[in-house]
Amino acid sequence: MNNENLLVSSSSLWSLFILHSSLFIPFSLFMNLTIPDLQQKLKSWQGCELAKTANPVLGEGNENAEIMFIGEAPGAKEDELGRPFVGPAGKFLDELLESIGLKREDVYISNVVKYRPPGNRDPLPEEKEQCMPWLMMEIALIKPKVIVPLGRHALAHFFQKLSITEAHGKPQNISEKLTVFPIYHPAAALHNGNLRQSLFDDFSALKKFLEQ
Ligand code: URA
Repeated sequence: MNNENLLVSSSSLWSLFILHSSLFIPFSLFMNLTIPDLQQKLKSWQGCELAKTANPVLGEGNENAEIMFIGEAPGAKEDELGRPFVGPAGKFLDELLESIGLKREDVYISNVVKYRPPGNRDPLPEEKEQCMPWLMMEIALIKPKVIVPLGRHALAHFFQKLSITEAHGKPQNISEKLTVFPIYHPAAALHNGNLRQSLFDDFSALKKFLEQ
């Protein structure tokens, strides 16, 4: 895999979120931030139009996790409870994790967009861009070794030109310390039963990759 499609490399994470215009967080302040601090700050943030109609949902999980899963945006249940992946797609994600001997507490789970788009529509490009610094900060704080983008929106955050259909299950090595391992979004299998086995197969490939 050559990295010319790479949108966001680990080395550019720092500069990107520090310079991002919609979230002015001084570097020194960021250095002392924790995930609970981010949760708190997101509650009063108004940098995305969706904040007017939905509740903030930051990521959650093990802050020392080696694996981070990134979905698209919260759905109805996530909006109600303020937690990621707690609705039907989340239940299936739990099942997939369990199939490779992992629990939610072992990993960190987040989303590209931090608010539910109305009627669960696809997030707009500007909504993804406005929410991006939060995800960048989560990645920088968690420092995962493996990032699993779930579905095309999360994949596009890292690789603009890769399609999830061709990239799923194939690890993309970004650096010695970071690999992106794309997998279909669990919700896709709820609508298209054929993808269910593909998701289990990709999780199984992820397990093998982690054991290497
Ligand atoms: N789908 C997502 O992409 N994220 C969630 O948190 C729930 C469903």
